[in-house]
Amino acid sequence: MKIKTQYSSSINQLYRSKPTPQKKLIAPTLVLLLIMLIIPLYLFIDSFLPLQPPSKLSLYSGLTRSNFGLEKQYCDLFRGTWVPYPNATYYTNETCPLIIDQQNCLKFGRLNTDFLKWRWKPDDCELPRFDATEFFEMAKGKSIAFVGDSVGRNQMQSLLCLLATVSDPADLTLNYTSGITNFIRWLFPEYNLTIASFWAPFLVKAADSDSNGHTYTSTMSLYLDEPEENWARDIVDFDYVIVSAGQWFYRPLMFYEKGRLVGCASCGQRHPEVTEMSRFYGYRMAFRTTFRTLKDLKGYKGVTFLRTFSPGHYENGAWNDGGNCARTRPLGKEEVKLEGYHMDFYNAQAEEFRAASWRRQNKLKLLDTTGASLMRPDGHPNIYGRSPNRNATFNDCVHWCVPGPIDTWNEFLFHLMKPLESRKLSFWDQLRRSSP
Ligand SMILES: *[C@@H]1O[C@H](CO)[C@@H](O)[C@H](O)[C@H]1NC(C)=O
Ligand SMILES: *[C@@H]1O[C@H](CO)[C@@H](O)[C@H](O)[C@H]1NC(C)=O
Ligand SMILES: *[C@@H]1O[C@H](CO)[C@@H](O)[C@H](O)[C@H]1NC(C)=O
Ligand SMILES: *[C@@H]1O[C@H](CO)[C@@H](O)[C@H](O)[C@H]1NC(C)=O
Ligand SMILES: *[C@@H]1O[C@H](CO)[C@@H](O)[C@H](O)[C@H]1NC(C)=O
Repeated sequence: MKIKTQYSSSINQLYRSKPTPQKKLIAPTLVLLLIMLIIPLYLFIDSFLPLQPPSKLSLYSGLTRSNFGLEKQYCDLFRGTWVPYPNATYYTNETCPLIIDQQNCLKFGRLNTDFLKWRWKPDDCELPRFDATEFFEMAKGKSIAFVGDSVGRNQMQSLLCLLATVSDPADLTLNYTSGITNFIRWLFPEYNLTIASFWAPFLVKAADSDSNGHTYTSTMSLYLDEPEENWARDIVDFDYVIVSAGQWFYRPLMFYEKGRLVGCASCGQRHPEVTEMSRFYGYRMAFRTTFRTLKDLKGYKGVTFLRTFSPGHYENGAWNDGGNCARTRPLGKEEVKLEGYHMDFYNAQAEEFRAASWRRQNKLKLLDTTGASLMRPDGHPNIYGRSPNRNATFNDCVHWCVPGPIDTWNEFLFHLMKPLESRKLSFWDQLRRSSP
């Protein structure tokens, strides 16, 4: 709705800002010229708008589609189903040399490849296939950063493989940093496209605070009003920043604000003196701080995407108790329900997104992957993601196989970036592009 309004108001301005012509001949000529300009502009806009998602979160948000009244003009990209599509894969573990072992499911013995034969079908439109050539064309000279945890990095790995089908990237990580734990940076020299990943599993500043050292369930301290320096220090020049956070918030957490301990989540036994607070409060504040930091960052001209919570799929036990994810096909819409922790995480970030988006209009966008991902219990490494140098003690139903359904997150990204880049083209460039 918002976008449509912007376009039509700029069209109105086009009318208004023209000085009243003095000679009689000029007026009809101008009108004719305007009509000639506006008609193709409308055609062009219409070819774009049907695929724009509504600016509000709609997935599981309690609002039905009819509340928006937008069926005709808009397609909600993120609401749909997975449909069979034998040709869905863009690359394999043989054609992409960049897949890391933890996500290289085929290499580690996954024989059933049915999980690669689906594509996402939004209810009311088609999600275009990822086109690496067009992506480069659109993003040349640009830089894209993934800020978050290893699932954010997982999406970066997928994007690298999608793009590597057309052009070879160079690993520049060590040109920028001495250690590869916090930061990864790739460059596609042919297109001067940079893709980086910043390690910040909580987005905000965090520290180990468990007397027994760091484990998967150790207590950590979060400084909820301070962004993690890793990313905040170096993000300013990036054109696209995809932020996300997730599973790290399940652990026991101590919350600090203005440097003072204000409460903790799941720490009752160890710290009975501290007020128990919800972990979703911490999660919410992490996004609030992140959005505020990007909004206030001097010189940052990028577009920020919130990539929503990525659900894990443990069955037959908890993650640390023999749980696994051995399914071989997607679930249907009627088989999934966003509930429990997944829903609480999702709602906390959705509310922060809603609260922030009005301030940054086109600068903060939604990559609402939660629903589509929820339907893909078959897309995780499970037992097929083992790193040879790590003694895997549990199955991975959190990360996603590469290739796999996570490639669809980048189909979304590709599609959402398109209008942002096109808007920067001149009108005549747009016309040239839209003509066959
Ligand atoms: C799948 O790919 C093969 C070979 O690349 C092609 O012949 C076939 O038509 C494709 N099928 C679909 C449904 O696109
Ligand atoms: C790719 O997967 C196949 C099994 O499908 C495996 O035999 C091969 O070693 C893997 N190659 C790489 C480079 O990971
Ligand atoms: C490559 O892109 C970066 C921005 O990402 C820019 O600063 C730099 O000047 C570009 N280099 C060339 C050779 O175009
Ligand atoms: C990155 O570092 C390598 C090795 O020091 C060097 O050869 C290369 O030119 C550097 N690349 C860039 C783009 O700075
Ligand atoms: C993996 O862990 C098991 C049990 O903790 C141990 O017996 C085994 O030696 C370990 N293997 C490696 C390669 O570290």
